Amino acid sequence: MVASRIAVLGRGPVPAGEPVLRGDDLGVLRGDGLFETMHLRAGQPWLRDEHLDRMARAAKAVDLPLPPVEALAGVLDEVAAGWPAAVEGALRLVCTRGPEGGGEPTVYATLAEVPASARAARRDGITLATLPLGVPAAARTELDWLPAGIKSTSYAVSTAARRWASRTGVDDVLWVSSDGYALEGPSANVVWLAGDTLRTVPAGGTGILPGTTAAWLLAHADRVGLRADECMATPADLHHADGVWFTSSVRGLVEVRTLDGTDLPRCARTPDLQRLVAFPLP
Ligand SMILES: Cc1ncc(COP(=O)(O)O)c(C=O)c1O
Repeated sequence: MVASRIAVLGRGPVPAGEPVLRGDDLGVLRGDGLFETMHLRAGQPWLRDEHLDRMARAAKAVDLPLPPVEALAGVLDEVAAGWPAAVEGALRLVCTRGPEGGGEPTVYATLAEVPASARAARRDGITLATLPLGVPAAARTELDWLPAGIKSTSYAVSTAARRWASRTGVDDVLWVSSDGYALEGPSANVVWLAGDTLRTVPAGGTGILPGTTAAWLLAHADRVGLRADECMATPADLHHADGVWFTSSVRGLVEVRTLDGTDLPRCARTPDLQRLVAFPLP
């Protein structure tokens, strides 16, 4: 995803190639920052307020002094102004802790066209492999010093998982706890269908990221005649589910076609669920 537009808080839109961070910004030096990625549709960030709320909760958890929400919304408006309504965008809001030794957070937004690979995944589904996370499902929330479920710019673990997926020849991974529970992907939540109930993993008690897409989907499941709940599941449960999907803001809802090399049943409800999150198919 190559940003074609950038806007910086206090400066407005800047040419995409122009530097916006100081070399001593703690976002660069320590990965000390937060971000949100939104889906820009018809020129508007979908679930913008939910993303801004999640960033505000994360900022509280890591003591990062965020600018007022109006300023954050303003920088999103600046970067999206004039973007063609027909073009789906991936809109990122980044807030780093700013220069080492003190200073204001650095806040900027990037906007790029949704990559063709994301649109292809919606159409074709994805292959998935489980990857051990090495800790029990409840471990992270039991540590009261560790902010869990935040969208930090510290992405070393996620990018390592992505490299592993690429070496292994799968599209994405599903992290599994050492006590055997499916948790989430490096940038997606897992959602599955059991009978007429759409399920996802609870964020409380696991420390996974509370996904805006999964939350919206489950909150509106009744529109397609389904019930919704949150529960823990093992990979074996997913193998026996009536459908399994990954959900995230930009890629949307994508069907998991194979898990650890075994085919999962194609689910006839996938188009309904994709319409529910309203991602236009290419
Ligand atoms: C670890 C993780 N889980 C889940 C998600 C999905 O969240 P959302 O639907 O809000 O994009 C993301 C998004 O990037 C993520 O990084």
